[in-house]
Amino acid sequence: MSKKELTTDPYKGVRDFYPEDKAIQNYIFDTWHTTARQFGFEEYDASILEPSELYKSKGVQNEEMVNEQTYTFKDRSDREVTLRPEMTPTVARMVAGRAKELYFPLRWYSIPNLFRYERTQRGRLREHWQLNCDIFGTDDITAEIEMVLLANQIFLNFGAENGTHFEICVNHRGLLDALYKDLELSEETATAVTRLADKMQKMEVNEFEAAVKETAARAADTILKFLRAKSITEVPEFLKENSTYLELEKFIDDMENKFACPVKFDPSVIRGFDYYTGIVFEIFDLHPENKRAMLGGGRYENLTTLFGGDKLPGIGFGMGDVTMRDFLESHNLLTANITAPTLIVIPTDTELNIDAEVVANTFRQAGISAAVDIGERKMAKKLAAADKQMVEYAIIIGDDEVKSQTYVLKNMTEGSEECGTLEELISKIV
Ligand code: HAM
Repeated sequence: MSKKELTTDPYKGVRDFYPEDKAIQNYIFDTWHTTARQFGFEEYDASILEPSELYKSKGVQNEEMVNEQTYTFKDRSDREVTLRPEMTPTVARMVAGRAKELYFPLRWYSIPNLFRYERTQRGRLREHWQLNCDIFGTDDITAEIEMVLLANQIFLNFGAENGTHFEICVNHRGLLDALYKDLELSEETATAVTRLADKMQKMEVNEFEAAVKETAARAADTILKFLRAKSITEVPEFLKENSTYLELEKFIDDMENKFACPVKFDPSVIRGFDYYTGIVFEIFDLHPENKRAMLGGGRYENLTTLFGGDKLPGIGFGMGDVTMRDFLESHNLLTANITAPTLIVIPTDTELNIDAEVVANTFRQAGISAAVDIGERKMAKKLAAADKQMVEYAIIIGDDEVKSQTYVLKNMTEGSEECGTLEELISKIV
């Protein structure tokens, strides 16, 4: 039998994280952790394994995800197990499990890895990490405001600008319900229209209109008028007295005028999961190459009741690391030193490696991260590598430096240089 060589490629749709990739992911996670804590959220975690039934209950379902996208298998005792495709059912399960002891409203966050058997493409993989932030135990609109402010703040903390790099789009599931009720659509037709509207942005205009007409012939014109509204005031008149309209209108107004955080009404923001009941939102990358949503969430009233016990309203969002990285790279926002030590010490000759290590260690003791390039490459190559890694400072060590104990600290971004003893140079960095 001939021996087939193993491939070095990872499994389809998942990533290996070489150090430069891990550094970017860590930078993303650090910013997520910091911002969630900035808003008083506490971290929780759980296993990637869940009993499959968790995703099959009515009220959780996203049909496409359950039927086509979950990684499900039988364990050795014939239990059906699923690699979690999202975190919301898990967090609802955990909150419901301790509902009697927990203090509400609670604010929890987590950064789980999730598995979805998707068609892999830019922005869509089979394993991704997702920041999940949720508030449980209040239906006050302040929770919606806080949630969207937190989402917005994450982008600000990455150095992005609302309206330039990204936009926040909102809708209300209740508005759709009011529309369907007025049009007297059957439950089946309403579900079919919702599924269709969820795909609106991915379809050609004509194709979409024809599909709506086929699904809800009599009501198609009104549905299309609603879905084409560019601002909330353009929705069909009869909806404007509905309480959900008034709630959403005030929300949009408050976000802009009280919090300087503009949000845009977008009736095509539907969100594929059946559990959403109120305001729903998505954040889109404005870069033409990344047309996907980077973040999605909304209010869900009934998830905890699946586990018995009382109704505990929740609201939250998820944002993925794949789309976040594409976003940061496309908009050139990855300029910070995230992949490297602050200082690189480069000896002019390998014989000076240990002297260089002594210098680097002095900086480390002062709390400055430092590495020594002990390779045998030429100086120009070493400097180029340090530059690519976005190291902030470099010190070149030759015989003269070792003898005089004075060194030149090169600022790699500004190109400037300073001369001094180690003590003096340390004080320039800290
Ligand atoms: P979602 O819209 O399915 O929501 O996912 C949220 C974000 O995760 C997306 O906008 C996208 O950035 C990222 N994402 C989703 N699937 C993939 C994938 N296959 N590859 C790469 N990135 C992906 C939820 O999952 C809800 N459970 C969020 C939530 C939390 N709602 C309330 N609380």
